[in-house]
Amino acid sequence: MTHALPAATRLDVSKILSRRAQSIDASGIRRVFDLAAHLKDPINLSIGQPDFPVPDVLKRAAIKAIEENRNGYTQTQGCPELLHAIWQRLESEVGWTHDPKDGLSAIVTSGTSGALVLGMMCLLDAGDEAIVPDPYFVMYPQLSALTGGKIVLCDTYPDFRMTAERIEPLITPRTKTVLLNSPGNPTGVVLTSRELADIVDLCRARNILLISDEIYDEFTFSEFREGGRFPTPAQFSKDCLLIRGFGKTYGCTGWRLGYVAGPHDIVQSIAKLQQYTYVCAPSMAQYAAAHAYEVDMQPWVDRFEKRRDSVLEAFDGVATVTRPGGAFYSFVEVPKALGMTGTQFVEKAIERSVLVIPGKVFSTRDTHFRLSFAAKEEVLAKGLGILRDIMEGR
Ligand SMILES: Cc1ncc(COP(=O)(O)O)c(C=O)c1O
Repeated sequence: MTHALPAATRLDVSKILSRRAQSIDASGIRRVFDLAAHLKDPINLSIGQPDFPVPDVLKRAAIKAIEENRNGYTQTQGCPELLHAIWQRLESEVGWTHDPKDGLSAIVTSGTSGALVLGMMCLLDAGDEAIVPDPYFVMYPQLSALTGGKIVLCDTYPDFRMTAERIEPLITPRTKTVLLNSPGNPTGVVLTSRELADIVDLCRARNILLISDEIYDEFTFSEFREGGRFPTPAQFSKDCLLIRGFGKTYGCTGWRLGYVAGPHDIVQSIAKLQQYTYVCAPSMAQYAAAHAYEVDMQPWVDRFEKRRDSVLEAFDGVATVTRPGGAFYSFVEVPKALGMTGTQFVEKAIERSVLVIPGKVFSTRDTHFRLSFAAKEEVLAKGLGILRDIMEGR
């Protein structure tokens, strides 16, 4: 006997789905992948994750944890080994300690995304505002639907610097937080210590929480490092929320691991929400990441810096590219003389088998495209040649 119902009596899902779910529009990125779906062997410069394997130390530690039957829940806050490693790192890098006098806490989350969602859920009531950069990481505008808060975009064109001067006019009595992302996705722009200090001062003066999404912290290129490290607002303040990840740095994006550190009461609120939602971050990934800081990723960062140079060289004289100081993206302006939007240019590129992403996916504007240089050098060189040819009308 079959239980299939005639089509007419099937559930009308449109009446069931929440306005929240219906308000999220994923068509921009889907359209690019639909266009690319027929390509046999695309030159893929669209990928948002590194092209290196997980370091062996981490692989072995994850396998060992599984084989030793350490597969149960960890504490909500994270396993002690990883938290210990995180605190050592924070202390050596920015002088943040777990000593109660600092008033700080940390929690391991399911990806950097988990930290962003839970963090914003702790801060925003309906109508409260969060200021985020435009261009943005694709999740940021969606945090409005997810939390009921209002996401206010800070226009950072044409140099993509989210400065105190650009933030200040956007502040209202409803502003709870300013979200920074340096090195940034999709632009690779790295803010300087001076710029960060000004933003810290502004937020302090207006009682606004500064959140710093530092998922690409390790991927900061030599000329943008200051005193050997990448600039972070944590150098100047213990009143900011640092959100960091392991996925991009160690090539394990699928392991879903990040952490958030900052003012104790905020982190404890995040822990409360995590307890009743994700419970804890994936356990084997936590045991593995406890060894992450034993690994030197600098040779890879240097290699990415060389790739960045090859991108700048390829577009020299034909298109404007703001020099990426980190991450593995460049945000390329489509030459105005072509009279094309970013989306139209990407369609042309896909016709020639090169996959890049229209700037519109990351912005209210459609004037650029994002190119990821997390691709092997020969693939990158081939793609860059074709993109340049299109720009020069060949
Ligand atoms: C700026 C930024 N923040 C957060 C994330 C989410 O990272 P995760 O995979 O750790 O959730 C990404 C991923 O692309 C990103 O680019």
